[in-house]
Amino acid sequence: MATILRKNEVIKENDKVKQFLTGKGIVYESFSAPDALDPILNQKSLNDAEKEELLSGLEYRFQELKDKFGYKARDLVVLHDEVPGIKDVLAKFDKLHIHTDEEVRYIIDGSGVFGFIIGGEKFEVHVAKGDFISIPENTNHWFTLDEAFRIKAVRYFKDNSGWTPVYVDETKVLAGV
Ligand SMILES: [Fe+2]
Repeated sequence: MATILRKNEVIKENDKVKQFLTGKGIVYESFSAPDALDPILNQKSLNDAEKEELLSGLEYRFQELKDKFGYKARDLVVLHDEVPGIKDVLAKFDKLHIHTDEEVRYIIDGSGVFGFIIGGEKFEVHVAKGDFISIPENTNHWFTLDEAFRIKAVRYFKDNSGWTPVYVDETKVLAGV
């Protein structure tokens, strides 16, 4: 379940988290993954066959989201301290950026932090297992891992070509320039 950290407020209740994020234009849902996937989810790193097994086990969710939002593809991201070049991977996304397509993530294991600047407000959304989040195109955000340093997330795409970071200057965004 997600937790929101604002300047003077922490939001933990699921309904309030959803309400806050909806107000910021972000789609948020809380889904549970089937228990049968736990043995694979509990492993830190996965080989290609295990990744495929996870995605197959979540195919029903993909179908449901395809019908609702029109996604065309999905893949799986597995990040932890033993991933080669993990610091470089994180460095690409921990700075304020936008994408020209939505950024859609379903967290199925571990946790992480999305940061946003929307409407002049800077806030963090701490996501964990079960959280589904869809960040609209051209939304100022960043992402990083937390102290647990481990996450598995399914990414859903309408168009993967639009999914590269475009960096923006935080000072200018906060100043409304
Ligand atoms: Fe991003």
